[in-house]
Amino acid sequence: MLRSGLRTVLLHASRRGSVRFAVEHAPISRGVVKRFVAGDGVGDAVRVSSELVASGLSVSLDHLGEDTTEPEHAESAAAAYVGLLGLLDEAGLSSHVEVSVKLSAVGQSLDRALATDLVRRICVAAADADTTVTLDMEDHTTTDSTLETLRDLRADFPWVGAVVQSYLRRTEADCRDLAVAGSRVRLCKGAYDEPDSVAFTRTEDVDDSYQRCLAVLMAGEGYPMVATHDPAMIKEAERLIAAGNRQPDSYEFQMLYGVRPDEQRRLSSEGACVRVYVPYGSDWYGYLMRRLAERPANMRFFLRSLVTRK
Ligand code: FDA
Repeated sequence: MLRSGLRTVLLHASRRGSVRFAVEHAPISRGVVKRFVAGDGVGDAVRVSSELVASGLSVSLDHLGEDTTEPEHAESAAAAYVGLLGLLDEAGLSSHVEVSVKLSAVGQSLDRALATDLVRRICVAAADADTTVTLDMEDHTTTDSTLETLRDLRADFPWVGAVVQSYLRRTEADCRDLAVAGSRVRLCKGAYDEPDSVAFTRTEDVDDSYQRCLAVLMAGEGYPMVATHDPAMIKEAERLIAAGNRQPDSYEFQMLYGVRPDEQRRLSSEGACVRVYVPYGSDWYGYLMRRLAERPANMRFFLRSLVTRK
């Protein structure tokens, strides 16, 4: 993970309206967005999912949108997921395609009870389609409430997946709590701009934490979901899988749509379950800015596109 001035600026910009307008209206943004986002509509989500499934991969679909401030928007985000799950079922894709939900998209900051109620509706639709839901993790001010919502939901839907971020100092302890039978846990490094008081800020420390968390999850009885593109983290996961004699149905790798597709195919061809996180929808701004912040090469690609108007 890149910890730099540029990263901080981009992550700060990801939450500012003025920059948002400029990026959303830059003619080239669409081309860059295409690399990371399936498209605007639910049809794009289904089409891309079916292509990935046909190539042997699994999918987690994210209906883009976050930081909802109006109850009606929270309702329509939930309705979008319910509609999507129905379509996935009809298309025969739900055995390989689940959904990822950001609680802020369904009103977490407005009213936690509303968000829990809406995500519960999504879980009912997922259960009907015979698939699963994973709760994305957002910035550290929401970690406790997200884990509380997870606990509430798991009472009825034990398959709801958690996400933990290795950059947070608390995460190794959270992994110990979560590494129980049946518990689906996605381990990622973390994509928000967090203060030193709660997060490791040096790349080496985030990576060391990732490896410690991975060891806890792989030694536990849950279902670890190894979400990273980092070759060193993938290698460590492979080492722990071999050492613990973990069977291929007891863990999975996860990567983002548009990032390291060759590595996705390599892991899959070696027998691992690989799930691609595929966002879709028109509210792509925050997602794009976090992807640009992760990697200077992505930012250069974006700036080059600005100049050449590709
Ligand atoms: P790192 O950033 O160190 O990158 C390692 C290498 O991977 C790079 O050198 C490069 O080769 C490649 N790479 C990484 N990112 C790239 C990019 N954007 N474009 C091109 N190449 C790239 N975060 C969060 O806070 N909450 C969440 O819920 C989730 N959910 C989630 C789901 C899934 C499936 C994934 C893969 C990731 C997330 N994340 C997330 C994002 C995560 O926290 C993190 O920001 C990114 O995965 C980048 O971290 P890496 O582990 O890939 O390592």
